[in-house]
Amino acid sequence: MAERAAPKARIVVGISGASGAMIGVRLLAALRRLGTHETHLIVSPSGAVTAAQELGLTRSDLDGLADVAHNVRDIGAAVASGSFLTDGMVIAPCSMRTLASVAHGLADNLLTRAADVMLKERRRLVLVARETPLNLAHLRNMTLATEMGAIVMPPVPAFYAHPKTIEDVVDHTVGRILDLFAIEHREIAKRWSGLADAFADQRDDAGAVQ
Ligand SMILES: Cc1cc2nc3c(=O)[nH]c(=O)nc-3n(C[C@H](O)[C@H](O)[C@H](O)COP(=O)(O)O)c2cc1C
Repeated sequence: MAERAAPKARIVVGISGASGAMIGVRLLAALRRLGTHETHLIVSPSGAVTAAQELGLTRSDLDGLADVAHNVRDIGAAVASGSFLTDGMVIAPCSMRTLASVAHGLADNLLTRAADVMLKERRRLVLVARETPLNLAHLRNMTLATEMGAIVMPPVPAFYAHPKTIEDVVDHTVGRILDLFAIEHREIAKRWSGLADAFADQRDDAGAVQ
């Protein structure tokens, strides 16, 4: 008898209306390339606006990057229920409005309801929170989300990686997101392996940096 293939693991990706739509877009592209997970996408109306403004992408361009695209108003979608098994969710980028809604358990649309489900089911929830500078509400909401088990991960560039392009900067963040889900990848071209490599050509015979 033919063996039935095990169902693919699932991951929910949210794109909200913070700057940095490219992070969500390149994350979805990486997940498609890696093929480890079935992707479920939820885009807020403002997320669609920023994707259009920053990348010239239409709503259907975004939906085409995922295996399943949900309507943010469809509060009855599968991802609104804890019984729909997933490995977790990442909101990239995460606006301060969506962060506030998650931090206060509002579940006021499918994006924030799916995040609420992750927290109640104690599943991984990564919030790529993007705003600068931060006011006290932003900081308090990050603390609340962290206390409930979410991982707040601002998309901060890693200058030690010597990025040359915006794609380099974004892919480093995408790689760190994948790391948080233990997904093997090659998005981070150069992982930090200590200062020894960085200063290899600047050391004297005794090994001290000149
Ligand atoms: C081009 C553009 C860039 C924006 N950048 C940010 C941002 O970096 N961070 C943020 O919190 N909100 C940002 N906003 C504002 C949010 O889109 C707005 O607060 C919206 O209500 C968020 O809704 P959502 O959380 O449902 O996506 C931006 C809006 C636009 C149009």
